Amino acid sequence: MINDVEIDLVEEILKLKKQKNAVILAHYYQMGEIQDIADFIGDSLQLAQQAQKANADIILFSGVHFMAETAKILNPTKKVIVPDLNAGCSLADSCPADKFAEFKAQHPDAVVISYINCTAEVKALSDIICTSSNAVKIVESVPEDKPIIFAPDKNLGRYIIKKTGRQMILWNGVCEVHEKFSLQKILQLKIQHPDALLIAHPECEEDVLNHADFIGSTSALLKFVQENNAQKFIVATETGILHQMQKHCPERTFIPAPPNNTCACNECPYMKLNTLEKIYEALKNEQPEIFMSEELIEKAKKPLLKMLELSK
Ligand code: 13P
Ligand code: SF4
Repeated sequence: MINDVEIDLVEEILKLKKQKNAVILAHYYQMGEIQDIADFIGDSLQLAQQAQKANADIILFSGVHFMAETAKILNPTKKVIVPDLNAGCSLADSCPADKFAEFKAQHPDAVVISYINCTAEVKALSDIICTSSNAVKIVESVPEDKPIIFAPDKNLGRYIIKKTGRQMILWNGVCEVHEKFSLQKILQLKIQHPDALLIAHPECEEDVLNHADFIGSTSALLKFVQENNAQKFIVATETGILHQMQKHCPERTFIPAPPNNTCACNECPYMKLNTLEKIYEALKNEQPEIFMSEELIEKAKKPLLKMLELSK
């Protein structure tokens, strides 16, 4: 319902998309109904790659702000619009650029690797960007004698230290969704479902990761359930990914890992700000649009291009 008029949102969105030569990119954490109308659904790396090669006039990015910024940086001549400008990210917010610049100045010899979940300004202060699917490779690309600053996610950073054996100087940031999973409730679930495998995103806290049967980015988790013979999975990441898991493997059972209280904290409140209504309005009005100065785009592009080059 838009302004008291009943309209078929999906049909209208598809019409507008064609009329305006727009492409819809959506992250796996979007609501199922948004994933179903997207031209491309993916994890942060796949979405950055798609944004870079998009040749539509408009990119509608249904995800969070840093992802849409990344799309603009990688394909600046396109109009990049979002359903809701308030769709931020607690990890990106945990790392203000001015504070990060001071932190960086304390370690002048260090190579700065930033997780893509950060603002364009923090990207501009970084040497290489990584995502959860390529972080090991990116860290291993740095010569062994070089110190590394890793920001902003300390849980991902700790996990990468464990995987690579490389010591890194960590920024103290966390994702408010992934830090809330309750190990105690997960272990209770494992007792109730002894045949279930625990799969977790590396943004989860160390105690959850220590019990996981598999750890990976959203796309890696999706691939794992498709290729594994287990019938049941406890999924410790944002619940949006369950839509694709259920779609690809309708005969399997996927149990969302519970948070440490009774809230819906395993849903990202920022990702879930996006709705079909807002996508319709954004396409119709061609806003809210992502704007950045050319200087910022140029500075933030360098570490992103390095990441894309190393991810080939
Ligand atoms: P990936 O898309 O790399 O799995 O990261 C998940 C996430 O938290 C995005 O905000
Ligand atoms: Fe940011 Fe966490 Fe939401 Fe991902 S799930 S967008 S890291 S707050």
